[in-house]
Amino acid sequence: MDGIKRRIGRSIRARLSAWISLVVVIISLISGVLSFTVSFYEAHELQDDQLRQFGALIKRQGITLQGASLDLAVNNIDHEARIYLRDLSHPLSDNEEFAHNMPDSFSTINEQHKSWRVYVVETVNGQRIALTQDTALRNEIARDSALRALFPLLFLVPILVTLINFIIARMFLPVSRLAEELNRPSSDERCRIDEDSVPDEIQPFVVSINRLLSNLYESVEKQKRFIANAAHELRTPITALCLQAETLDAEERSDREVKFKRLRAGLNRTKILLEQLLAHARSQDEPKLPLEICSVQQYTQEVIADLIPHVQRKQIDIGMPYIEDTNVRMIPIDLYTVVKNIVDNAIRYTPLGGQVDVSLRRRFEFCEICVLDSGPGIPEHELVRVKEPFFRGSENLEQGSGLGLAIVSQILSRAGGKMVLSNSVDGGRHHGLKVQIFIPLA
Ligand SMILES: Nc1ncnc2c1ncn2[C@@H]1O[C@H](COP(=O)(O)OP(=O)(O)O)[C@@H](O)[C@H]1O
Ligand SMILES: [Mg+2]
Repeated sequence: MDGIKRRIGRSIRARLSAWISLVVVIISLISGVLSFTVSFYEAHELQDDQLRQFGALIKRQGITLQGASLDLAVNNIDHEARIYLRDLSHPLSDNEEFAHNMPDSFSTINEQHKSWRVYVVETVNGQRIALTQDTALRNEIARDSALRALFPLLFLVPILVTLINFIIARMFLPVSRLAEELNRPSSDERCRIDEDSVPDEIQPFVVSINRLLSNLYESVEKQKRFIANAAHELRTPITALCLQAETLDAEERSDREVKFKRLRAGLNRTKILLEQLLAHARSQDEPKLPLEICSVQQYTQEVIADLIPHVQRKQIDIGMPYIEDTNVRMIPIDLYTVVKNIVDNAIRYTPLGGQVDVSLRRRFEFCEICVLDSGPGIPEHELVRVKEPFFRGSENLEQGSGLGLAIVSQILSRAGGKMVLSNSVDGGRHHGLKVQIFIPLA
């Protein structure tokens, strides 16, 4: 019983069936009571009309009653239809109720244990005759005919309830079909549901499911691409490292030193690549570390200090011509990663002896970190693609994974910021890439 209740509580179809069936039964009961009452009173009126007609006949034909009473029972006539005639000028001794001065119309009289419906007429020769019918019998006739009026209703209600349930079940068929379709293993990986074959009411729901499925499909595809690219990126340096390690033993002592250095450099590059891969994978996740108020100037100076060995190696002239310190609300390591990737790119892709300028400004509700270099810039047709993971410029000879800008974009989109890349056209000291980072102020 509890199970059925729970099912009805959860299922719209069961609830709809139960409520409509209940409404049909209640309305049928009310209409049954009404039609029983109306039929009952109409049957009474019909019987009164019979008495009235009979009276009119007696009056018009001048019929006189010989004796005190007359039973109008005729063979083959239903016993219930009996009408008795009584002469009111000769009341029977046990019949005091039928008084001589009864009015010439209808009345109901109780005689001992019986009740009578009486209609009094006066004939042309002054005889007053009472046409009487047994009230109990009249009630029985009226009840029978009223009950007969209920019969169609008694048959129709169960048929109606069954029909309603059948129609509702059919109406909900598309919903069951939809569930079947979703459960069926599909050859189409996108597993789209045909939106045109479902009723209008559930179409928005199906559109949302399709959108969800397509997002899911795209994110799975992205993950697949990332894993394939990561495997590819890692395979090359690791294979090279293995080969170097294998040949190390066979080398002369003096050569071994050089090879060992190369091996160490290779291992270092692989470590950096792995760190980039992990950073990218992490940047896809929801952050688990708390946001903090960070000084942009402090983190930028930290990044530049950490990159000094590269700056010196490439003899880069790095400076901060404009500093307007602002605070942003970010995970500190995210801010560090963003600035480090941009400044690192500028140093890496600028030729020996080049210049890099880092400026910090407040722009409306944003903090702007602008990094300008004197490198070759990025060909216009590659400007959009460089933000994609694993995309590396066609014209660069530097080592890299192609993940740096993808990581920056991911972190910025989560922080409500954005990155703008353009080739500098100021014709002055810089003619390389201009990277503008905008982060909402704290
Ligand atoms: N300052 C820059 N000057 C010229 N090209 C750049 C600069 N920054 C990035 N790029 C180009 O964008 C590509 C993607 O950069 P990034 O995502 O950091 O990957 P990676 O540096 O590992 O190659 C680089 O391969 C390079 O071609
Ligand atoms: Mg880079």
